[in-house]
Amino acid sequence: MAGKLLLATNNRDKVTEIRNILVSLDIDVLTLKDLNLDIEVEEDKDTLEGNALKKASEIWNAAGIPCSADDTGLFVDALNGDPGVYSSRYAGENVTYADNRHKLLENMSGIPDDKRTARFKTVVCYYFDKDKYMFFEGSCEGTILKEERGEKGFGYDAVFLPSGYDKTFAELDLKEKNKISHRAKAFSKFKEYLVSISS
Ligand code: IMP
Repeated sequence: MAGKLLLATNNRDKVTEIRNILVSLDIDVLTLKDLNLDIEVEEDKDTLEGNALKKASEIWNAAGIPCSADDTGLFVDALNGDPGVYSSRYAGENVTYADNRHKLLENMSGIPDDKRTARFKTVVCYYFDKDKYMFFEGSCEGTILKEERGEKGFGYDAVFLPSGYDKTFAELDLKEKNKISHRAKAFSKFKEYLVSISS
């Protein structure tokens, strides 16, 4: 399946994870940087699907080659699904990953262990021609710890303990995270689809 796929993201952490997942495909995985495209799409929709579609379609319009965009949120039961689709700016505009984690731990102080369930959800939009697109979803269940653990990963990784594991996402190697993560599951479904249409 020789072809090209443009990842509609400027986030280096995500590019590394996604390239790892798609590595066995005979496909050129390009980034915006590879094409010298300096595009920042505002994520102003109120669903993961809406943001993923907006990013993928705008980048497709600019580049004209098949692209994928993903949007992820952390949905915490005790906070009625917050930070959800607003996960990247939970503590405000232009904040760091650490600011968001601190805000989450602060808002969850006093919530007992058995009520700290949460899940990451990722929606991938594959936009391959004008007005032609598909969605792929993945999620990962877990709990929010009371303090940070681990130095790897990014975002909320240091406070998220995936179900069935005794290491947070920030304590797991990327290879291990990529076996169980929301993004890995969504991109694996996407990968299966790409393989199925190539045979
Ligand atoms: P995005 O919209 O896909 O960039 O994700 C929104 C926010 O969710 C990011 O800014 C991160 O804070 C968080 N996030 C996304 N994916 C992950 C992950 O795999 N681990 C931890 N946090 C994540």
